[in-house]
Amino acid sequence: MSVKDRDPLTGHQTTGHEWDGITELNTRVPRIVWIAIIVTHVWALAVWILLPAWPLVSSYTKGVLGIDQQEEVEQDILRAGLARSDWLSAIDEMPIEEIRADPELMSRIASTAPALFGDNCAACHGAAAAGGPGFPSLADEAWLWGGDAEAVMETLRVGINAQHPDTRWAQMLAFGRDGILSRGEIRNVASYVRSLSGAETAPEIRAVGATIFAENCSSCHGVEGQGNTDIGAPDLTDDFWIYGGDEHAVYRTIWDGRQGMMPAWEERLSLADRKMLTVYLQDMAEEAAP
Ligand code: HEC
Ligand code: HEC
Repeated sequence: MSVKDRDPLTGHQTTGHEWDGITELNTRVPRIVWIAIIVTHVWALAVWILLPAWPLVSSYTKGVLGIDQQEEVEQDILRAGLARSDWLSAIDEMPIEEIRADPELMSRIASTAPALFGDNCAACHGAAAAGGPGFPSLADEAWLWGGDAEAVMETLRVGINAQHPDTRWAQMLAFGRDGILSRGEIRNVASYVRSLSGAETAPEIRAVGATIFAENCSSCHGVEGQGNTDIGAPDLTDDFWIYGGDEHAVYRTIWDGRQGMMPAWEERLSLADRKMLTVYLQDMAEEAAP
């Protein structure tokens, strides 16, 4: 069979190739294939022109649309930063009562403060802020220095027995070590102190202890032992103890004195961070209140 022969069945020309009596028809490439090829080439050309496409030696073809994903990401980060600084600067500027009245800011605080506390405070005060020996629980209604927003903000700003020039000083004297009271006197006044929060004490020991307390302790802890938030002297009539309320712990507190140290946060945390923590702690204390 030669070229240009026609296949009798379909009427198509043949290519002239034949294998064992089977001839190859010379059919045309289907139109749909041409269309697909043309469309994809046009598309590729358009994309090369419009979008970043070809690497060059030190740069690349940027495309006439000027789309740059790196720039887009940078813009996104900038926008997120601005949004964050928006609500942070609102917290910075507003008094705490106004922040509390703003549900949007309060929900920001609810999602931010726990991480702040975890990063900066939990090491001493415990993950649940429940404290431990030497570190007061912050999750109760007892406050050494007062629980209103102003007092808590100031405690965070200057710390306690810290290196800040305005730091709060908490000085429980070493009555035993410094020879102010004898062992017997300390035992008696310790029993009296424990009786203030309900521990059983023989009446005569209590009476002796009450006199020692009035002479040595009431100036700081108050006549009734109710504490004084001006000088961070703990309330001795409640069930909250920093150092423990058993006989041994109370004896040691009076013998050796106590000077708990809490760092100042003015230089380490922003004003907004300290406000958020204050709101967080106040809410926790309020929840714990009976
Ligand atoms: C290095 C340990 C330490 C770290 C860290 C620490 N605290 Fe304290 N904090 C203390 C001690 C100790 C006291 C009690 C001091 C005393 O006995 O007078 C205290 C007291 C406080 C008080 C006073 C409580 C009251 O009843 O008035 C507040 C409020 C407080 N801390 C909040 C925080 C917050 C918020 C953070 C994190 C930003 C933090 N603390 C981090 C050790 C720490
Ligand atoms: C100069 C003021 C001052 C005087 C006087 C004083 N205290 Fe204190 N006391 C404090 C302060 C401040 C603290 C808290 C210390 C700290 O945590 O850093 C404290 C803590 C205590 C605690 C520990 C409470 C707890 O929660 O663990 C006991 C108990 C106590 N005092 C009993 C006494 C007794 C008893 C006397 C008299 C013999 C006395 N104090 C005299 C200031 C004073």
